[in-house]
Amino acid sequence: MFLSLGIESSCDETSVALLDGETVLASETYTQGIHARFGGVVPEIASRAHLQKIDRLCDAVCENTGKNLSDLDLVAVTDGPGLAGALLVGVSFALGIHQGFKIPVTGVHHLEGHICSIFLEPDPPLYPFLALTVSGGHTAIYLVREFGTYECLGQTVDDAAGEAFDKVGKMLGFPYPAGRLIEQEAACAQPPFDLRFPIARPSEDRIDFSFSGLKTAVKYHLNALNQKILQQQRPRICRAFQNAVVEALSGSLENAVARTGIQQIVVVGGVACNGALRAALHSRFGESVRFPRPANCTDNAAMIARAGYERFQRKMTTFPRMNPSRSLT
Ligand code: KG4
Ligand code: ZN
Repeated sequence: MFLSLGIESSCDETSVALLDGETVLASETYTQGIHARFGGVVPEIASRAHLQKIDRLCDAVCENTGKNLSDLDLVAVTDGPGLAGALLVGVSFALGIHQGFKIPVTGVHHLEGHICSIFLEPDPPLYPFLALTVSGGHTAIYLVREFGTYECLGQTVDDAAGEAFDKVGKMLGFPYPAGRLIEQEAACAQPPFDLRFPIARPSEDRIDFSFSGLKTAVKYHLNALNQKILQQQRPRICRAFQNAVVEALSGSLENAVARTGIQQIVVVGGVACNGALRAALHSRFGESVRFPRPANCTDNAAMIARAGYERFQRKMTTFPRMNPSRSLT
């Protein structure tokens, strides 16, 4: 038995999970719904909400598994990137356990956690593989040759894909986070499907993404509509916007496969929950593309514990140093 406690508090999910080796014993995630009314995450409110929940989630994980903090073999905590005050809550909590019970501790990069979320699933990929990390804060394609080695092949030059979903959602009157709501609305669209939004290709040599032009195109399209027409056309607008994001992500992945010759693809992060993206990538890449189940795509502590366990086994642990803008490469 090797017990790893994972802690994640980089944005608006407070999450604590306990793994025995590679097996998830318990995972508790609290999503801070309070940000919906503000149209986005308010950093100070997020920090306070993490503080209010983190010890209760940790208690729940211990109670559900019958384990005590003194039984732990490792504490793994997200130490960046993310919101400074939010990260600080998780890192301080982890350091408290480390100090109080003399348990080894490691910091985990949030994106390494997302990439490791695929190893929480049955039939995980073999190295090397391409990882598309697509969330509210990040959109990038990494070449992962082995655990801990990440080569960035391209990334967004402006908004992340999830951020574009959330900002377009706000323009359309959806609460934050809007990704799932846009997907649901798009599914109600009726033909004709003639509306198209532009897909930017910011660089010829790299596989970069850009979503801010798409967001502006939606904005101009909405400005030309009155409220009544907008309500009628909302599903079609959602569908056209979602198609543009899906096309940008699929095209760049195709490019990455052609350049590297690597066929295996994993898609992780909150936007990987999107059914249209899953369907499009499965139809382009067949069984060589893998997605974690939706609960493992959005922020969670099981992926952080899993990454921490991999680090511990390879003697790659690092003392947590809260760093809001830490790069993966
Ligand atoms: O990975 P995540 O939980 O947090 C970050 O690390 O950012 O991702 C959250 C993002 C939000 O932008 C949310 O709108 C988006 O993932 N998202 C979706 C869907 N579910 C969540 N985007 C599109 N379709 C979805 N079904
Ligand atoms: Zn994330």
